Parts: sequence; C-alpha cells; structure tokens
Amino acid sequence: MRQFVVIGRDVPTDPDAVSLSDIPGAGRLDLCCRCVSAGVFLSHGIRESVRIHLVIADEFTVTFDSDTLRHLHPDERNVAARVRDALDAKDDAIGHMPADVSQGVELRRMGLDATLDRLVGADGRGPDGTLVQLHEEGDPLVDAEPPDHPVFVLSDHHDFTSEEAAAVADRSERRLRVGPELLHADHAITVVHNWLDTDGYTAY
Ligand SMILES: C[S@@+](CC[C@H](N)C(=O)[O-])C[C@H]1O[C@@H](n2cnc3c(N)ncnc32)[C@H](O)[C@@H]1O
Repeated sequence: MRQFVVIGRDVPTDPDAVSLSDIPGAGRLDLCCRCVSAGVFLSHGIRESVRIHLVIADEFTVTFDSDTLRHLHPDERNVAARVRDALDAKDDAIGHMPADVSQGVELRRMGLDATLDRLVGADGRGPDGTLVQLHEEGDPLVDAEPPDHPVFVLSDHHDFTSEEAAAVADRSERRLRVGPELLHADHAITVVHNWLDTDGYTAY
C-alpha cells in the first residue's frame, strides 16, 4: 500500500463554496484534484493499493482508495465533484466514523493530527505504514531505501506551517526530496510513484 496525505488548508468545508466552474477559486482545490489523479491513475488504468487523503482546512479528510474507486475520471472537474459530494455528506461523519460518499471515497471528521494518528500512530510506525515527509529540502530520494508501506505527506501551494511540520516531525524525522527543483505536489507524487515502481530506480 502506498499512501499520500495532501494538506489542502484553504479548501472550503462548505460544499456550496466549491464551484465546478472555478475550481482554483475553491482554495486551490485544483491542486488537490491533480494530486488525486496523479496518485491513483495510470494511463488507461488505475493503480492498485494506493490511497490519497486530502486534509481539508484541518477539519475533514477525504480519502480516495484506488482498489474500490468506481466511475472516477482523471479530470479535475470530476475529482472536484467527488470532493464536493464528500463535503455534502459531512454531517454523516460522526466521531471518527467515516461518511460513505461513493465507492472508494470516504470523508472523516479528522484534521492532520488525527489522520496521521490513524495512519501511522503517534510514533509514526504503524498501524499502516512509515511516515515520510516530502520536502524540497529533504534528503535525496535516490539515496534512500523505499519503505514497504510508505505514507507520504505533502503540502499544497504553501509551505508547511510550523504546526503541520511539528505534527509530521513528531512521528517521523524522515524527509525526502525528489529532486533539486521545487515541483507542484502532483508532480512530486508522480516522481515518488516512479521511484517505487522501479524499486528505487533499480528495476525497469
Ligand atoms: C509547490 S510545493 C509547496 C510550496 C513551497 N514550499 C513554496 O515555497 O511555495 C508543494 C509540495 O510538493 C512537495 N514538493 C515540491 N517539490 C519537492 C521536491 N523537490 N522534493 C520533495 N517534495 C517536493 C512538497 O511536499 C511541497 O510542500
């Protein structure tokens, strides 16, 4: 399983504030949608065992699960419509029980801390994986060993805030950079997939 946590701190939590004719205007939701597409889609196909978690306004987390997703298309409008559906269902998310939005899409009433706890625990080592922060000043990816069940955390168009950086650092000291240039988050996801697909650039 590969998982990506994307922080979308400016995305509105009110579904009525998400206009499909102005997706960037919804707190750069376009970036988050491209992260979902880069995470789950191949050309003419869908990846196995990938989950993308969009943390919205540190209040809700919308999860896309590639193994159970149905009828999702890679274009931003289609993904944004699913995020809006998820926000529309937020009243059904009670405590830490998710709201089922559609097959393969769930919304949880959880911000970054609770989502990281759910995915990797307070110590960053389980239940589901090893936490890795993707950061432009991290250690080079090429020198690292691909973890078995990585959970990568990325920011959107902003820097990580000090609270977000601390939430990640408390659970993991591991920071990796995918290359020398600052990339869009979705492009960084594509590079990471390629690193894992090639077992650390060793198997083509
Ligand atoms: C556009 S960048 C964030 C904005 C940036 N910190 C700034 O100065 O405006 C989006 C995210 O993609 C990831 N990212 C971008 N370039 C990267 C790189 N070279 N290595 C690792 N992660 C990268 C990071 O998680 C980053 O927070």
